Amino acid sequence: KVLILDFGSQYTQLIARRVRELNIYSEIHPFNKPPKNVDDYKAVILSGSPMSVRSEDAFHPDLSEIRGKKPMLAVCYGAQYLAHFSGGEVAESNTREYGRANLSFVEEDAFFKNISVGSQVWMSHSDTIKNLPTNGKLLASTHDVKNAAYKIEGESTYAIQFHPEVYHSKDGKQLLENFLVAIANVNPDWTPNAFVQETVDDLKAKLGDDKVVLGLSGGVDSSVAAMLLHKAIGKNLYCIFVNNGLLRKNEFTEVLEQYKGMGLNVKGVDASARFLDALAGLSDPEKKRKAIGNAFIEVFDQEANLIEDVKWLAQGTIYPDVIESVSATGGPSATIKSHHNVGGLPDYMKLKIVEPLRALFKDEVRRVGASMGMDKDLLGRHPFPGPGLAIRILGDITAEKVQILQDVDAVFINGLRDAGLYDKVWQAGAILLPVNSVGVMGDERTYEKCVALRAVESTDGMTADWVNLPYEFLQKTSNDIINKVKGVNRVVYDISSKPPATIEWE
Ligand code: XMP
Repeated sequence: KVLILDFGSQYTQLIARRVRELNIYSEIHPFNKPPKNVDDYKAVILSGSPMSVRSEDAFHPDLSEIRGKKPMLAVCYGAQYLAHFSGGEVAESNTREYGRANLSFVEEDAFFKNISVGSQVWMSHSDTIKNLPTNGKLLASTHDVKNAAYKIEGESTYAIQFHPEVYHSKDGKQLLENFLVAIANVNPDWTPNAFVQETVDDLKAKLGDDKVVLGLSGGVDSSVAAMLLHKAIGKNLYCIFVNNGLLRKNEFTEVLEQYKGMGLNVKGVDASARFLDALAGLSDPEKKRKAIGNAFIEVFDQEANLIEDVKWLAQGTIYPDVIESVSATGGPSATIKSHHNVGGLPDYMKLKIVEPLRALFKDEVRRVGASMGMDKDLLGRHPFPGPGLAIRILGDITAEKVQILQDVDAVFINGLRDAGLYDKVWQAGAILLPVNSVGVMGDERTYEKCVALRAVESTDGMTADWVNLPYEFLQKTSNDIINKVKGVNRVVYDISSKPPATIEWE
């Protein structure tokens, strides 16, 4: 396995992700709390940092157990750190060193195997390495950055000023592979299967005979988290699946059956009426969210209290949900932000939190689920917001509006499936607008509701673009909706990107 020492860069998790993509297992540890058995690791990567090595309180790790003894790759801050404290010089840079740059090689080296001259790399730093450290040998430069990559002679120590982990460094993964496989001789034999095994073993050791409660949402993350825990502790995992009445059409019964079929110890709780009550008369989006969040906590709390002696709350939190990453100085026990779908529990429950997917990205969660033999449709489901259809019905919520939107949504989503488009879209749904418009059906004038369809492509929901769905598909969907769903006489398609629009309308 590979050790990543974190100096607090926003990209550290991305390094871990890229390494996992190479089928190599890696662990992130704060630089000031390295693991005890450094010998267990075959290579070490030093991350970037928001810090400057020139500042008085610059992070100054003790690398004596590592440097020269193990292959080491120092990224950005790491590269400056090596230079600054080992006989080189780092200074404030006077040219802008952010964004794209192209590599030119000074020295031939296994480090650059299969990477061609001009390869685009991504820079993000305000200091620059003026002089290499003792025994430093320059390997590559860019137009603005002379010392873009170097190695230390007599050691397997490599240093790069750019970020190989970000998407825009085109050959970044190749570079990591060159370092880890060709130079450090790490075996790329780590798979989602191995993740499942390790996680299940860890969970067993951590949870023992304790009881754990988990809120299932029907989504990918909570379902995969549940399966991992189920493998580890079986019936001691108590799953609760709450119907807030704002799910997709038939979703509650269908998904509940599916969960039972997977062998999960799951209780379905239909609290639709309670949520509708809590929403009555509310039209402000944030007030609606709050009402739903509170109702959820009440229902979940009530159910969890029925489980005698429950000690843990499991959550399907994945990496993008972890807004506050493990801080470089605070160590691994940084405050846990509760999953936005669960919303946190009252303090008096005093449950300890377990989050087996905390380090993974969505596509990795899907791969882990697939390796446990989970249903493809369940794993491929689009993201769906915790407040459900309530934030897709603009304005106040009534049972009738929910039903109309469920019907519209079902036509749209089933249509996407039938047309083989579902998996090409990251997220899709329908929005019920608070306007009526005039139409004509038969010879009758109508004055009915308008719905908007939204389909976006994205990787993480942070940015998104609307999907160019085929006109024929839109035409058929619009027809089907207006013919099948009573109360709707107009369908529009949302062609806004995020930003400036958001994915949801509320
Ligand atoms: P926006 O609308 O912010 O959505 O572009 C980005 C992603 O987040 C989901 N979303 C939510 N999920 N509770 C959730 O659990 C919410 O209140 C919420 N609001 C938006 C949205 O569906 C999309 O995937």
